[in-house]
Amino acid sequence: MSQRTAKITFSDSDQTIELPVLEGTLGNDVIDIRTLGNHGYFTFDPGFIATASCASSITYIDGEAGLLYYRGYPIEQLAQHSDFMEVAYLLLRGELPTAQQKAEFVATVRHHTMLHDQMATFYRGFRRDAHPMAVMVSMVGAMSAFYHDSSNPFDPEQRDVAAFRLLAKVPTIAAWSYKYNQGQPFMYPQNRLGYTENFLYMMFATPCEAYEPNPILARALDRILILHADHEQNASTSTVRVAGSSGANPFACIAAGIASLWGPLHGGANEAVLKMLEDIGDVSRIGEVIARAKDKASGFRLMGFGHRVYKNMDPRAAIMRQTCYEVLDELGLHDDPLFRIALKLEEIALQDDYFIQKRLYPNVDFYSGIVLRALGIPTSMFTAIFALARTAGWVAQWHEMVSAEGHKIARPRQLYTGPTRRDYVPIELR
Ligand code: CMC
Repeated sequence: MSQRTAKITFSDSDQTIELPVLEGTLGNDVIDIRTLGNHGYFTFDPGFIATASCASSITYIDGEAGLLYYRGYPIEQLAQHSDFMEVAYLLLRGELPTAQQKAEFVATVRHHTMLHDQMATFYRGFRRDAHPMAVMVSMVGAMSAFYHDSSNPFDPEQRDVAAFRLLAKVPTIAAWSYKYNQGQPFMYPQNRLGYTENFLYMMFATPCEAYEPNPILARALDRILILHADHEQNASTSTVRVAGSSGANPFACIAAGIASLWGPLHGGANEAVLKMLEDIGDVSRIGEVIARAKDKASGFRLMGFGHRVYKNMDPRAAIMRQTCYEVLDELGLHDDPLFRIALKLEEIALQDDYFIQKRLYPNVDFYSGIVLRALGIPTSMFTAIFALARTAGWVAQWHEMVSAEGHKIARPRQLYTGPTRRDYVPIELR
């Protein structure tokens, strides 16, 4: 079969440019515009609304149908039957592990959980009230100053060690940012515990009392980690790819991803949702909040609603809503006021013309904050937990990029709108 092509014609000339059309295994075909520059044109797409920045075989989203697959496996099946370590393996290696492969993977992650002890001294340089994400950006970036033997992205073995170190140490870094915040001693990882239990242990144990993580709550947190593990070319993942495309240190690249994730339009949304629900305070005020979200002049958006890709229900939101019921049940919090406000807010928004026409549905963050809060996680740690989960995706995407054939540094073009050439004017003549 001959290669499909697309033709660009111009309204002011007879010029025609023919470009190849590439097909993926699922989803939209893409027009390969790489040779467009030879004809004197670039494309203009700020915010990457219609631009595929890479080819990837990791995650697939169908925003119209509300589908999310990791390596072909639907998120619903992974959330129900898998666990975060297995999902991390799947994202990184491309296939589900055998029992032996999984045991080896988990054991390797487990033996990398401790931080270089000198890194503990860094925490003391921060103010106690520093946001955990500020601490995480710095601490993950600081890993690049400690782990020199896993910093060459073009060496497959070093890449693998970097991936293990990141998966294993980011939970320790996150939990310790909370401990420092609280003025409590750092709790060293307990390698008898599973990945998620260990994180809960480092967050909530103290040297004074025995602490055993509740397995049902640990399972709920593990599910949150699965749901947040990857989401194809979102802002933070693209940031990791762009940073890593220059051959930069892997730990510095993940720190760049954490910085991008921090924003309220991305990973910061779960924290913003909870603040919004607390501000609403009562179901009687929902109408007022919906009206404000519809009024552009207010600058206010309904947090946890809308998505660049999902124009239907975010499949992660449906799983999260169900998890919310389960966790609140387990804790005897059926009447949690914030959950009641969230359910009512969702119900009203989904019947509102503004939200229907703009195809704004709840996203994963709409319910994840309520679950995290029920688990006793403070609001300031929500985005840090998102970062912990997304580390699996960032590392897999970074791996894929640096090992790809024909790897190129990311270097976008621009539409220049500044002054044309002009001559320097000496200061006394201005
Ligand atoms: N509340 C009210 N109006 C909204 C909202 C909202 N949450 N989201 C989008 N709109 C409106 C927006 O004003 C715009 O209206 P118009 O066409 O009249 O200018 C239209 O819907 C399209 O919005 P957009 O900002 O052009 O869409 P986008 O694809 O650039 O942004 C988004 C997507 C997620 C940033 C946006 O929906 C948003 O700000 N949502 C709230 C923040 C949020 O929940 N973020 C978490 C995203 S999911 C987690 C993750 O993947 O990081």
